[in-house]
Amino acid sequence: MYLAPMAELSHRALRELIEGFGGSAVYYTEMISAGALVCGGPYESWYLDSGPCPERVVYQLVGADPERLAAAAALLDRRECAGIDLNMGCSAPAITRTGAGVRWMSSIERAGELIRLVRRGVKRRLSVKLRIGLEDDMEYLIRFCRRLEEEGVECIALHPRTAREKFKGRSRWDAVALLRAALRVPVVGNGDIADAGELLCRAQGPWDGVMTGRAAVRQPWIFAQARRLPGSEAIRVDLEATGLSFLERLARYQPPEFHLSRSRRFFSYFCDNLIWGNYLKNLLNREGDRAGIERIWRGYFQEHGEERLKTF
Ligand SMILES: Cc1cc2nc3c(=O)[nH]c(=O)nc-3n(C[C@H](O)[C@H](O)[C@H](O)COP(=O)(O)O)c2cc1C
Repeated sequence: MYLAPMAELSHRALRELIEGFGGSAVYYTEMISAGALVCGGPYESWYLDSGPCPERVVYQLVGADPERLAAAAALLDRRECAGIDLNMGCSAPAITRTGAGVRWMSSIERAGELIRLVRRGVKRRLSVKLRIGLEDDMEYLIRFCRRLEEEGVECIALHPRTAREKFKGRSRWDAVALLRAALRVPVVGNGDIADAGELLCRAQGPWDGVMTGRAAVRQPWIFAQARRLPGSEAIRVDLEATGLSFLERLARYQPPEFHLSRSRRFFSYFCDNLIWGNYLKNLLNREGDRAGIERIWRGYFQEHGEERLKTF
């Protein structure tokens, strides 16, 4: 089971929450800019924090420049980690505009050369996370991934949507099965897993691993719960305490400049566990700092004490 790489979400505070519930996973980091890493950007030490379980952390790199990606991967290769991943799936305009993310999927030749270059400096497990592609063309996806495999990629994670689909429609897990059947390397499927039951069900499919993103932010206990299923007791969660614990860890592990956007991002998913969650999200979004977010969060449970403890 894998935690998906998610910008502003897949960092130490979330990993500690997940581990705290007793759920272990392999944790992809949020994407790290290869350029900023190589140039020693001011925030890189925060991005590189791989606690609390460095041996189960996969660093994800994003970038468009092959030399910088190779240099950044070689730097990461010296750190304790479970592997290094290259982002070839991000379809956010800010990323694709630069030629990074899913733009790599536009040329099999360029992507193959990139892997060859990166591979030279990396001894650890090298993986790629991607989408179906710029077009809905399975035959192209298979040729693309076979080339990555030839150049030394050891694992592929597929979010089975095209670049244009972004998050629309449903993830097409049949594409994960098709890719798995066509490759020698392990294939991890990802997309739209909603809860522990679905995670467990997907984990039994004809692929080598399952990756969960947004649902693991809503329910950081999802991995623990999936491991205990089927037929085990439900998990009882103190939602207020979990939110406070997240805020406390955020303050401990991230620079102050990151606190506001990262706490908003986390609560934009975590509030889905609450009856008045949408209302609460609006209140939180109006706050200007972490202390304000904490005050609103505590205040919610003073008014709605019945929501504090919930069973999942
Ligand atoms: C807020 C957010 C940030 C994301 N950032 C990244 C990223 O940094 N790298 C990446 O490869 N994918 C990123 N993704 C995509 C996820 O890794 C994943 O493929 C997608 O959310 C589908 O999985 P899910 O339905 O389980 O959330 C991001 C998704 C979200 C919602």
